[in-house]
Amino acid sequence: MTVSYAFPDDFLWGAATSAYQIEGSPTADGAGRSIWHRFSHTPDNTWLNETGDVACDHYRRYKDDVAIMSELGLNAYRFSIAWGRIYPEGTGRINKKGIDFYSRLVDELLKKGIKPSATLYHWDLPEALDDRGGWLNRDIADWFCDYAATMFDALGDRVNMWATVNEPWVVTDGGYLSGVLAPGHASLFEAPIATHNLLRAHGSAVERFRASNAAKKGKIGIVVNLEPKYPASQSAEDLDAVRRADAYMNRQYLDPVFTGKYPAELREIFGEAWPEWSDEDMRLIKQPIDFLGVNYYTRKIERYDAERLPLRLKAVPQPDSITTETRWEVYPEALTRILLWVKERYGKLPVYITENGAAFYDAPHPIDGKIEDPLRVEYYRQHLRAAHEAMKQGVDLRGYFAWSLLDNYEWSHGYSKRFGLVHVDYSTQQRTIKSSGRYYASVIETNGGVLSR
Ligand code: FCB
Repeated sequence: MTVSYAFPDDFLWGAATSAYQIEGSPTADGAGRSIWHRFSHTPDNTWLNETGDVACDHYRRYKDDVAIMSELGLNAYRFSIAWGRIYPEGTGRINKKGIDFYSRLVDELLKKGIKPSATLYHWDLPEALDDRGGWLNRDIADWFCDYAATMFDALGDRVNMWATVNEPWVVTDGGYLSGVLAPGHASLFEAPIATHNLLRAHGSAVERFRASNAAKKGKIGIVVNLEPKYPASQSAEDLDAVRRADAYMNRQYLDPVFTGKYPAELREIFGEAWPEWSDEDMRLIKQPIDFLGVNYYTRKIERYDAERLPLRLKAVPQPDSITTETRWEVYPEALTRILLWVKERYGKLPVYITENGAAFYDAPHPIDGKIEDPLRVEYYRQHLRAAHEAMKQGVDLRGYFAWSLLDNYEWSHGYSKRFGLVHVDYSTQQRTIKSSGRYYASVIETNGGVLSR
């Protein structure tokens, strides 16, 4: 029997990117530098010391890129706004030229019938704010809120899908606990504070959104990365390790947003570094949101490991699985599982898959004008089927955004990991739609029909 993979008629078929990863020209037209500018310009932080100075040159080529989206048949596009283009010093003076760029981008998208979805924070904090403590300074909730309000006013007549923060877990885990991402701090005591201020900033922006004109037509949510955790064995120690891993990665942000409480395991993990937070803060964080954005890439199998602090666990590699260039196991079933988990734990609410995709090795230059990427085609086929399965089991899934539209700057990995539906030849900036891009276009055109093949 062939399974039908029809998606709803109003389903959003999109692709996602983020400002620092694609735009280039980071200081053009009066923009202020970000922590990613500083981090990538500091030796030994990134692969071959690569920076986002040029990236995909999208800042200047955005019209061509929107034309490619249109060729793929996308009806939605998720991008992020660089805070420092709008507020070069992070607060205070507004740089109109920065707003103009996003305004032109939005107009171009609408002209082609593509729904813009804007993320306010995708990791590129203005350097000037980092100098004032960044996510460790409680005032950042107000700074973020003012910036958000400026964008609601500037674009709210045309953008009606907003996300506050992209992957707060990565911001604190990479930026404040392990230090592999900007601003590169490694402190058990800082990570909980950064977490809490990210959530306060989120809550303040949602509250401000409700009072803005943008709320008349628009919706607002948050984007989290979720990763189902499986135990390496049924031993009590491994089951406990999984409970901690799940609290740290999956519940640390969602529990406060939906229930107003942090998971109890965080105290187990952080010990005395985990502070008590006021009820007032928790009320601010628990603002009702309109949708949840879920980024999904992989799952993890965890084993207890007393040596590895603070979580006391270790992920066990799966030698028989296919893994991507970022060493993430390909495991589509866990996408269905995590979406069902969200529904069971937090209730049925509109959900978007705001990122999903894979880095596989692609040739640096097209061969006979083509880039064949069969592994990525298969990745999309399987994950879109898994998303459909979740919908069949009652998840209110409204859209899917592939990560990414273009090969781009993969943070500390520099340009060494290619995630695009569209290949970028960095020596010429030439774009070539990969076979995965063509495949995704056929999924969109048939509204899921080709997934049964
Ligand atoms: C996510 C990020 C995105 C990109 C992908 C591969 O964690 O949101 O910017 O790096 O991973």
